[in-house]
Amino acid sequence: MSKNIVIIGTGYVGLVTGACFAKVGNTITFVDIDKEKIDMINKGVVPFYEPGLDNLLSSYRGKINATVDYKVIKDNDITFVCVGTPSKDDGSIDLIHVKQAVENIGGILKEINRWHHVVIKSTVLPGTTEKILLPILEKKSGKNATMDFGLSMNPEFLREGTAVYDFLNADRIVIGANDERSADELVNLYKSFSLKIFKTSITTAEMIKYASNAFLATKISFVNEIGNMCKKLGIDAYEVADGMGLDKRIGRAFLDSGIGWGGSCFPKDLDALISWAKMIGEEHRIISSVVEVNKRQPLKMIDLLKKHVPNLNGKTIGVLGLAFKPNTDDIRGSRAVPVVNQLLKEKAVVKAFDPKAMENFKKMFLQIKYCSSAEEALDSDAVLVLTKWEEFKKLDFTGKIVIDGRRLLEAKKTARIYEGVCW
Ligand code: UDX
Repeated sequence: MSKNIVIIGTGYVGLVTGACFAKVGNTITFVDIDKEKIDMINKGVVPFYEPGLDNLLSSYRGKINATVDYKVIKDNDITFVCVGTPSKDDGSIDLIHVKQAVENIGGILKEINRWHHVVIKSTVLPGTTEKILLPILEKKSGKNATMDFGLSMNPEFLREGTAVYDFLNADRIVIGANDERSADELVNLYKSFSLKIFKTSITTAEMIKYASNAFLATKISFVNEIGNMCKKLGIDAYEVADGMGLDKRIGRAFLDSGIGWGGSCFPKDLDALISWAKMIGEEHRIISSVVEVNKRQPLKMIDLLKKHVPNLNGKTIGVLGLAFKPNTDDIRGSRAVPVVNQLLKEKAVVKAFDPKAMENFKKMFLQIKYCSSAEEALDSDAVLVLTKWEEFKKLDFTGKIVIDGRRLLEAKKTARIYEGVCW
């Protein structure tokens, strides 16, 4: 049966979740404090770049609304909390948005006389939903969880750039609930997608999210460490990964070596996990090393560059790609940040191009030149490939020195000098 759903937070997780639920017949109301974003969504415009999302929003516009007013919760059955949980300066998780959202929801629950279901989708550390968010909801509403309202935890595993595909084709849906009514309601809601469902407790669901992200980041840092050895030995880390990946216990996914991981999730989630482990007095050696390897990995690009251009002072370096990965305009945690910082430190002249992320990068780096095409960035003393955008494959690198951080093998065919970071 279709439901009336409120989605709090219109980042890529909230919008994709809402749009996909609308696709299977539910009615969606997005709530965000950002009026500008709300106006855009009401016009069918996606406030950021996420492939397929604009199509979905416009196709199901009749089922979608957006507002800044939490009161809409009154007329709905389920509220998903999809607001961000960024890092504080010390790496610990900042719950300010999630707490605010839950306080507002609690205030509305006080005014309604029927059961309403609150689902936490924001990434929060194990124990947060039960120990911090539930008490806020109960205090603000004057009601009891389970009896008067449902509460569950439903982590997301959406990759930016393929978030719509990932939602519709997820490997699993994790449903963390401590009461049957909440669990059953979420199981029914997800039924239309025919995906594998894993039911567990709220705290376990929270941990599954962190453990999954930490493990994926570990795979990448591990393969980068192996990749650095491969480079020294003159062997190809991708061939090694292919050979390893055939072992079902290992799997080939997330064994692409390069300049490391970035994004809106891995960096903040690993920092939060480390900070939390410290707080509860637990060891975090592996996770800390994973982060450490990732900090050093992008600077391998500079070492390789200096093999061919020993003094960067006054040299023009073309940077291809600024987004943390292709198909997104997101530069959070992008490996381009430490690379560009180091180039500037060594007094190089940086000419950068990215098909989507230049506006965001400008907010951090005003002092570099932004090119109007990839070809323009190629007109440099050396070129660094930092993001594997499809369109870079068609470039002509004839006569160029190319340092490749993302395995754009097409560049190897034409470059005068080609260095892959781990191959
Ligand atoms: C990630 C998780 O995959 C997703 O499940 C979670 O919910 C949010 O965080 P995302 O940050 O969008 O998604 O990107 P992802 O595709 O996982 O890539 C993360 C980073 O790792 C990127 O910088 C990417 O370039 C890098 N990466 C990925 C590698 O260097 N090698 C790989 O083999 C895979």
